[in-house]
Amino acid sequence: MNLQQARDALRSARRVAVLTGAGVSAESGIPTFRDAMSGHWSRFRPEDLASPEAYYRDPETVWQWYAGRYADVTRAQPNRAHTLLAQLEREKAEGFLLATQNVDGLHTRAGSGRLVELHGNLTTARCEACGAVAPLPSPGAFTPPPSCSACQGRMRPNIVWFGEFLPEDALAAATGAFQRADVALIIGTSGAVYPAAGLAFETLREGGTVIEVNPEETELTPYMTFSLRQVASGGLASLCP
Ligand code: APR
Repeated sequence: MNLQQARDALRSARRVAVLTGAGVSAESGIPTFRDAMSGHWSRFRPEDLASPEAYYRDPETVWQWYAGRYADVTRAQPNRAHTLLAQLEREKAEGFLLATQNVDGLHTRAGSGRLVELHGNLTTARCEACGAVAPLPSPGAFTPPPSCSACQGRMRPNIVWFGEFLPEDALAAATGAFQRADVALIIGTSGAVYPAAGLAFETLREGGTVIEVNPEETELTPYMTFSLRQVASGGLASLCP
């Protein structure tokens, strides 16, 4: 498959599923999870900040970590890749679903509505007791951890941590969309974390076309129908002009 064929396939597709990772937000200046583990945080391992064990051991430090990520996000603006994906959603309407691994909320701010956040959203908190989700008003709301307005239970970051299951409804919606997709786009993800990375194979197994957009090769590249070695905004601009 070449670029023109990929463009034609996307244009004629009735059902399109998209998976995004941290690379889509890189052009908004948001560091990837691994880049954020530098400076003061370099003495921590990811499991020390994004796991249930870490939160029960030291909730204050975990909230401080998310206060810093929240500050990164509030400074950031959606970039052209987010905007092009919201535009593609408008074109494909109910035949479109965007599944993101990102927790920065930028797809929503860019206008995406047919969206599932597989790993949660760091601008919200979730009650450990009743599961209620509430927006976090500001980074300062992180200390001490806010309590639930419905049941006074303890709130935790609304993020899927290492070792936790993804929200069942979000994963089921994404899996169905990728199984039905004529074309799937895999944009800005290393393809290293499952089950999100496995969505591409749902489309391939059903005979669909899978197009990757990433400046670097990934673990998924060998299986792709077509790989575009470009950044997200550039790749999307050439796929859906
Ligand atoms: N455009 C497109 N892709 C880019 C860009 C860009 N401008 N810049 C970087 N990339 C690519 C990198 O080449 C890499 O393949 O984005 C990918 C980022 O990979 P990761 O940092 O592993 O991020 P992601 O794939 O989203 O991680 C998956 O792992 O950290 C956990 O739960 C967290 O959701 C996250 C999951």
